[in-house]
Amino acid sequence: MTSHPTSADSTPSLISPAIPPNLMTKSSPADSPVKLGIMASGKGSNFEVVAQAIKDRQLNAQIQVLIYNNPGIKAVARAEHWGVPAILLNHRDYKRREDLDTAIVEVLRQYEVEWVVMAGWMRIITPVLIDAFPDKIINIHPSLLPSFKGAHAVEQALEAGVKITGCTVHLVRPEVDSGPILVQAAVPVLSDDTAETLHARIQVQEHRILPQAIAQLAAGVTLAAFKQS
Ligand code: GRF
Repeated sequence: MTSHPTSADSTPSLISPAIPPNLMTKSSPADSPVKLGIMASGKGSNFEVVAQAIKDRQLNAQIQVLIYNNPGIKAVARAEHWGVPAILLNHRDYKRREDLDTAIVEVLRQYEVEWVVMAGWMRIITPVLIDAFPDKIINIHPSLLPSFKGAHAVEQALEAGVKITGCTVHLVRPEVDSGPILVQAAVPVLSDDTAETLHARIQVQEHRILPQAIAQLAAGVTLAAFKQS
């Protein structure tokens, strides 16, 4: 990479192209907003961009509930700002992952959630949750999957010396950070990048592709159509 962009927004990137209209399948009824449940463990910038995309009418959805596991995280203040109920399910209070996931499913059902968005949910989920929402759980991950799975994807990319990394929105399967890929965006790694600077530029792209992917799903785009895009 020879150019060194000075700001995150000027970084070149490659985003999966939009899906052509002829590959889109409308779900019914066409105009009812999709009911989202968002799960977050940290600062919630991805929660924020989804809420903003809904407000800007770029996404026909409504956020029913935020589920979070770490008390005091910034995502909660964001939920309050947007008038979204925030429910704490602290993983430290549950003996087994399955017990936490059972509680999560209960809350998602209580709030009549249709699609689940793991937006920085830093816990491994189990079939208890995955099977309760088959093909309806998506995750955003800060690498070009299948490279660099796990909680330290940005650091791993730097250690590996790759010149390009990025982010991925994918459907969730029991194996961590696997599952059909919906949308990806590429981000160049610069020679002077730290994990922080690289992650910041990756997040700029996350904030574009996560609302984009949800909007496509909400519009009824099928997995087959994502594959062909
Ligand atoms: C994102 O980088 C996402 O890819 C990863 O966790 C981070 C969450 O960021 N899974 P935020 O809390 O949405 O700002």
